[in-house]
Amino acid sequence: MAAARVVVDEAGKLSDVVLSVGACSAVATRLQALEERLREAGAPGDVARVIEAHDFAELTPIDDVRGSAEYRRQAAREIVLRALGGARRQRQDRGCRGMSMDRLSVSFTVNDEARQVQVPPLARLSSVLRDELRLTGTKVGCDAGDCGACTVLVDGAPVCACLVPAAGMEGASVRTVEGLANGRLSALQDSFLRHGAAQCGICTPGLLVTATALLEANPRPSEAEVQDALGGVLCRCTGYRKIVKAVMDVGTAGAPPPVALAGVGAAIPRLDGEPKVRGDDLFGADERPDDALSVAVVRSPYWHARFTFGDLDAFVKAHPGIIGVFTAADIPGRNRFGVIPPFADQPALADGTALFRGEAVATIAGERDAIASLDLSAFPIAWEELPHALTVAEARNGFAALHEDRKGNVLLEGTVERGDADAALASAAVTAAGSLETSYVEHAYIEPEAGYAFMDGDVLVIKACTQSPIMDRDDTAAILGLPAEKVRIIPTATGGGFGSKLDLSVQPLIGLVALKTGRPAGLTYTRQESMASTTKRHPAVMSATIGADAEGRVVGMVFEGDFNTGAYASWGPTVATRVPVHASGPYYTPSYRALGRAIHTNGPISGAFRGFGVPQAALMQETLYDELALQLGIDRLEFRLRNALRDGQPTVCGHVMDSGIGIAACLEALEPHWARAMNDADAFNAENRHRRRGVGVASCWYGCGNTGIANPSTIKMGIAADGRVVMHQGAVDIGQGSNTVIPQIAAEALGLPLDAFDFIYGDTALTPDAGKTSGSRQTYISGRAAELSGKALRERVLRYANVSDAAELSLKDGKLTVREGEASRTIALGDLPTDADGFVFAACESYDPPTVPLDAKGQGKPYAVYGWGAQMAELEVDMRLGTVKLVKITAAHDVGRAINPLLAEGQVEGGIAQGIGLALMEEYVPGRTENLHDYLIPTIGDVPPIETILVEVPDAEGPYGAKGLGEHVLIPTAPAILNAIRDASGAKITKVPATPDRVLAAIKAARG
Ligand code: FES
Ligand code: FES
Repeated sequence: MAAARVVVDEAGKLSDVVLSVGACSAVATRLQALEERLREAGAPGDVARVIEAHDFAELTPIDDVRGSAEYRRQAAREIVLRALGGARRQRQDRGCRGMSMDRLSVSFTVNDEARQVQVPPLARLSSVLRDELRLTGTKVGCDAGDCGACTVLVDGAPVCACLVPAAGMEGASVRTVEGLANGRLSALQDSFLRHGAAQCGICTPGLLVTATALLEANPRPSEAEVQDALGGVLCRCTGYRKIVKAVMDVGTAGAPPPVALAGVGAAIPRLDGEPKVRGDDLFGADERPDDALSVAVVRSPYWHARFTFGDLDAFVKAHPGIIGVFTAADIPGRNRFGVIPPFADQPALADGTALFRGEAVATIAGERDAIASLDLSAFPIAWEELPHALTVAEARNGFAALHEDRKGNVLLEGTVERGDADAALASAAVTAAGSLETSYVEHAYIEPEAGYAFMDGDVLVIKACTQSPIMDRDDTAAILGLPAEKVRIIPTATGGGFGSKLDLSVQPLIGLVALKTGRPAGLTYTRQESMASTTKRHPAVMSATIGADAEGRVVGMVFEGDFNTGAYASWGPTVATRVPVHASGPYYTPSYRALGRAIHTNGPISGAFRGFGVPQAALMQETLYDELALQLGIDRLEFRLRNALRDGQPTVCGHVMDSGIGIAACLEALEPHWARAMNDADAFNAENRHRRRGVGVASCWYGCGNTGIANPSTIKMGIAADGRVVMHQGAVDIGQGSNTVIPQIAAEALGLPLDAFDFIYGDTALTPDAGKTSGSRQTYISGRAAELSGKALRERVLRYANVSDAAELSLKDGKLTVREGEASRTIALGDLPTDADGFVFAACESYDPPTVPLDAKGQGKPYAVYGWGAQMAELEVDMRLGTVKLVKITAAHDVGRAINPLLAEGQVEGGIAQGIGLALMEEYVPGRTENLHDYLIPTIGDVPPIETILVEVPDAEGPYGAKGLGEHVLIPTAPAILNAIRDASGAKITKVPATPDRVLAAIKAARG
């Protein structure tokens, strides 16, 4: 893509030019040096010469597999010439010589309605649809043609609206997600809903629009045809399998289970799903008051630097439409935040020194157009670059401490020690030792951070995407020097989070502007600033030794891991403590010593990402388990079953569970699949020499909730005078399904159908604290609070009616009927007094998991509930290219009780897709891969068929026996893949992702 805005004077001379190039670069790049030269040259005849001579150095940040620097330069030259040529032709066509082309009039139809808009020549169709026509169903995930979220149909063909100039739409017919339904859901939208094909829903409009075009051309597409058609639209939540099925099953699906009867165990579609498939769910960037200011953020271009500001007042004066610049000096409260209060160390705006590239140092607030056209290169700031350390090795090797009180850049060490691990290893019949390294992994949710803030009287209201409204409220209030009750957080729909939206992002920045100016203020991160400034999965450098006796029983293990936690603490302390607790895997390990360290560097901040370090540790442990099984000549699945933790055996923390340990059941569920897959692999390998098939298995366990500290959730509900059950449900649903699962639990406990319920979702002014959406805690902990609330509410009604728990409740026309046997009593709710919430009967209950803090040796009861799982990967390795083709993943997960099997399956598939990324392709290179073009996440073609087996070993603590699931499902995928690669090829991978070059090198190393 190239876009040109050209102003030509009376003499035909270029008096102004703005050039932006996207197609040969990962993101659109302003060619400012070229613009300057063109302005100087001016005369039409000079344009080609100037362009030809330009070196396009702006477009060479990466010389990678996607095109050499030279290729980029050539392509840029060509498209700039075309763009300028096109702009000139437009000017001539309109006979408007000498006229500025600031706005063009465009007439086209949108969803069959004639529209006329005045647009700048550079305006993207996506912006015009969203900002001018308020059709926010078209989402923007990258503005660079990489994610497909903005896909619309132009004259029936799917196109990325972010790549198409609106100025080129004259006479075109545009169809967006809002045009798919005609009063009711289209068959495809209905199919998406029933199949659970939308989780967070941010990708859903792009997928629906693209699939609509496919189905109009081909009503019965094959799986391959669906994958081919949807290959350009990324989804980070679902793992794509339900999307494929939803498209293939359009019009053939049966009726969904009636919501009215849906309690625990019902596979109902998500209750908040309709707005997602209609495209009218409002995400962080979808709503802005008309008078809202826009906010731009000035960020550090250096990994470590001091900075001083120049004349900020002069900058504001020189830029019409800019209202103000805000720096650390403007922050009225404590300029420090952090998700774990004792470690809070991150400034909202850096104060004189930036510790990582992308750190915010100032905000600029102004009118929308002024911010959109702002040239940040003119911002008055002077930088002094300082030495930096990006790796753990550099940061520990005598590098000055980033934070004074953290010597050696060690943020925290976590230890678990049980028995004498060294002695156990010395006595072992066999040992396996190794080391393994993992990379930064980016969350890559399709929705960049976004929201707006406004003053409601003296209360600052922030509507933004988030996973943790109460934490946002408390930290934002502290930064802005406000009491907590003067800040209200209303979460918008959140387009994926996976841990990163637990940390503050836009909230204090827009809050500060709204507070200082009194005007609403909105901010949407660009894809680049989202990736550069927010948290990542910790890169790890790990080593371990595991020993087993001659019968294949593990006798001891030592583990050590350094986790690069970046410039600020974020969730580093949690990773350091969670890893040693989990590094044994779900196996009985009598003697054990594990150490996890979180180390500061000047790299991106590492925080929470589905698993908090456990997926990295599982790679280490599970690959060594294969090594031990091979040395002992024991089948690899059988070896794991032999060592699986059983009821009554202590964990490495000394926690003994009398019931609920489901790992053996998961491994047993895989046994028939394992036997079949091994036979398939043998048959395949007998026929193929250069492509080898392998099978791998790995397990997981994961403690739900915080590690050994308080972690309560509270749920309030009541029966209102109008006969509706109203539930105040503060657990944020970022796609995982808590808006459905928690109500299902409450309905079961109360004994009333779900269609009698209304919901008030997360709003710190209206809903009690249900904690953060993190650590796989919402189904278990908030679910348990919902169960307690539902039961308490039921009890209140039963007591009022003076009947036993066997009674049945029903609601109709504002009347509550209580039946027990032949007896029946009807209560006219409107005749009874109500409380402040309008409830006739009400309950508000809390639940906090009964844990025991870990002692100095990591002994205690860190979690009350664990989830368990095992996965099997089948794949083929091309022995000459090192490429890996996944054939199938089979996943058995013990969920205790599947509250909603449809949504549970969706969680499994989505986690597996992210595990595939971790194993095979995702490697965030700081400063180099800050876009979805160079940073690869799995597409619809990368996820093979997935068979999910939901195992139900009930847990005594969980609501109706349920356990958490969200984090667990990612953990075994990558080690199962690595073990399958080794099984197929002999290659022992020591750094993930296992890219083809690494696989090929490992194959060669294995051959010797
Ligand atoms: S927003 Fe257009 S492709 Fe990502
Ligand atoms: S449902 Fe696809 S990105 Fe969330």
